[in-house]
Amino acid sequence: MNCLIPQTFMSTPLRAIRKGSFCSSASSFQGVGVSMVQGASRGIGLEFVRQLLEREDKGHVVATCRNPNGATGLLELKRKFSERLNILQLDVTNESTIEASALSVRESYGSINLLINASGVLSLPNKLQPETTLNKVQKSSLLHAYEVNAVGPIMVIKHMWPLLKAREGTGDERDFAVVANLSARVGSIGDNRLGGWHSYRSSKTALNQLTKTISLEFARKKDPILCILLHPGTVDTDLSRPFQRNVPQEKLFTKEFSVQKLLSIIDGVKRSDNGKFFAWDGQEIPW
Ligand SMILES: NC(=O)c1ccc[n+]([C@@H]2O[C@H](COP(=O)([O-])OP(=O)(O)OC[C@H]3O[C@@H](n4cnc5c(N)ncnc54)[C@H](OP(=O)(O)O)[C@@H]3O)[C@@H](O)[C@H]2O)c1
Repeated sequence: MNCLIPQTFMSTPLRAIRKGSFCSSASSFQGVGVSMVQGASRGIGLEFVRQLLEREDKGHVVATCRNPNGATGLLELKRKFSERLNILQLDVTNESTIEASALSVRESYGSINLLINASGVLSLPNKLQPETTLNKVQKSSLLHAYEVNAVGPIMVIKHMWPLLKAREGTGDERDFAVVANLSARVGSIGDNRLGGWHSYRSSKTALNQLTKTISLEFARKKDPILCILLHPGTVDTDLSRPFQRNVPQEKLFTKEFSVQKLLSIIDGVKRSDNGKFFAWDGQEIPW
């Protein structure tokens, strides 16, 4: 199984990666595309990996998660798609695992064309509970949500940046790479009508601002990478399960449906979409 990170990757300084410096194995991936899904052990991230692998185009997928040996859904996919799925260990709160993944991806593929940051946390026993009042807001919860939901995905983009390249050799008109960050409608300030969930809500707002800022930098530097933010709808996963009681059945999506919709947004993304925040149905969400 390809989920162990060789020690040599751990010790190679990341600064050694230069834009455009491809390893010899890179050319063999021209024309098929390489996608990376970060936060792929379960839920929406795992479903992205499954749908990307089941596509006709035979693209390769790098799936990262905190504990590859315990990621049963990913291991099952690995049995079916052994050649096209690469599982790497990555915890967004541990920067050395992000660097190690970047180095491993460079070594194996040379570049990636699509990066999906799907990891996220809404509640954690004894650590983070969606707050119903200011009285319940704790510094530790705010910081934890911010670390996992905002800081983590941004550090992933930082380290993957030198590897993000348009797909080559396909005759594809798409001449840019795409970064898609899983946000949430509750991160919208303009759409905030209910209050509550201070930690989660504000961490997604921070993710939105950071993603928009990065999208502008890439554009200014004429680096052909587009960044978008996606709200998947309310999706039946571990994250939403404790909070589904008041969600009407027709508004609770399966992960299969939500990811189909999100992939169609990613597939259709245009240069003018850079830095935008889209809901599952393609509608733009106000900041
Ligand atoms: N489900 C919804 O209704 C909904 C609505 C709006 C937005 N979203 C967003 O969509 C994304 C996916 O949510 P989901 O519903 O699929 O949630 P989920 O089923 O709870 O999965 C969360 C994923 O994040 C990973 N993760 C948590 N902390 C991590 C860390 N420190 N480093 C790396 N990975 C970490 C988890 O890995 P482990 O298995 O290791 O814990 C898991 O793979 C999240 O960003 C979420 O905020 C979801």
